[in-house]
Amino acid sequence: MRAVVTGVAGFIGSHLAERLIKDGHDVVGVDSFTPYYSVSIKESNIEELNRSPRFRLIRSSLLGIDLDSLLSDVDLVFHLAAQAGVRASWGNHFRDYTRFNVEATQELLEAAKGKGLSRFVCASSSSVYGEVTQLPVTEEHPLKPVSPYGVTKLAAEHLCGIYAKSFGVPVVSLRFFTVYGPRQRPDMAIHKFIAAALKGQPVEVYGDGMQTRDFTFVKDVVDGCMLAATNNPKSIPYNIGGGSRITVNDLLHLLERILDMSIKVTYIDKQRGDVTHTHSDCGLAKSDFGYSPKHTLEEGLFEEAAWLRELCD
Ligand SMILES: NC(=O)c1ccc[n+]([C@@H]2O[C@H](COP(=O)([O-])OP(=O)(O)OC[C@H]3O[C@@H](n4cnc5c(N)ncnc54)[C@H](O)[C@@H]3O)[C@@H](O)[C@H]2O)c1
Repeated sequence: MRAVVTGVAGFIGSHLAERLIKDGHDVVGVDSFTPYYSVSIKESNIEELNRSPRFRLIRSSLLGIDLDSLLSDVDLVFHLAAQAGVRASWGNHFRDYTRFNVEATQELLEAAKGKGLSRFVCASSSSVYGEVTQLPVTEEHPLKPVSPYGVTKLAAEHLCGIYAKSFGVPVVSLRFFTVYGPRQRPDMAIHKFIAAALKGQPVEVYGDGMQTRDFTFVKDVVDGCMLAATNNPKSIPYNIGGGSRITVNDLLHLLERILDMSIKVTYIDKQRGDVTHTHSDCGLAKSDFGYSPKHTLEEGLFEEAAWLRELCD
């Protein structure tokens, strides 16, 4: 099949495109290499992809290319391009969030009308829930994002819903829960914790460390995307999580064991827009298209630590 992956040079997009190539598909990847984090990291994310004759890169913003031609003769679309990051979404940066998360999604959905795609998978986020009143959280839970980022991801989900309903675009939105693993973005907690520990620097924790997170290994997220693309999900949002939760303090203890070193911690103020707990109920994704996470947190952390050790050497 022919697939388009937007955000292909990013953390999750590069893993997904590699999996598509491995499974025998042709991939056109689009990425504008935004400077949100180092462009050289994004270049290295796609080194392996660039060696494949089945891969073609379009180095441009979705907002600057002919999306009609991009989606002609395509079977699968995986829309992962976005301005990610909760904390940076306040203030002047919000314009990037509306342009890349809302406007670009609407333009891509518009181009997808009548193209006969077999699936359009859109990356959403657990941030659409905000502070939850029930754990683990199901897709039925009220949606009250507490960050500008979450608001834009929810807007994108709604756009997906109305293009599915009004034009029959076969869209499925997947709500990823904190994804980690090799190539994790440098602004994310596990990346920052391991990198600081390897340099012998103290780790900064927002709040008291008793907040909990459902961490999802990137290969599980890629599995979720592939299953949603090839099985028959409904055109609704689904949780794609790791299925358990851990406090940030316990995560740091686990990292001490994995890295075989003690980690110094500095506690700083809780950040605006950060929620207290996340924990996914993935029962719906399991029953509708067979998703269940396979990797333990320990296994995944070993892989991310090995990757960062190599990078920091
Ligand atoms: N990483 C997580 O924990 C997580 C959790 C929930 C949801 N998500 C979602 O998953 C997707 C991928 O996240 P990631 O962590 O890999 O982020 P990332 O920043 O590593 O990747 C996103 C890529 O999109 C590109 N991009 C942004 N705007 C673009 C545009 N207009 N046109 C073309 N390319 C553009 C960026 O250059 C970047 O390489 C995003 O939609 C994000 O909101 C991620």
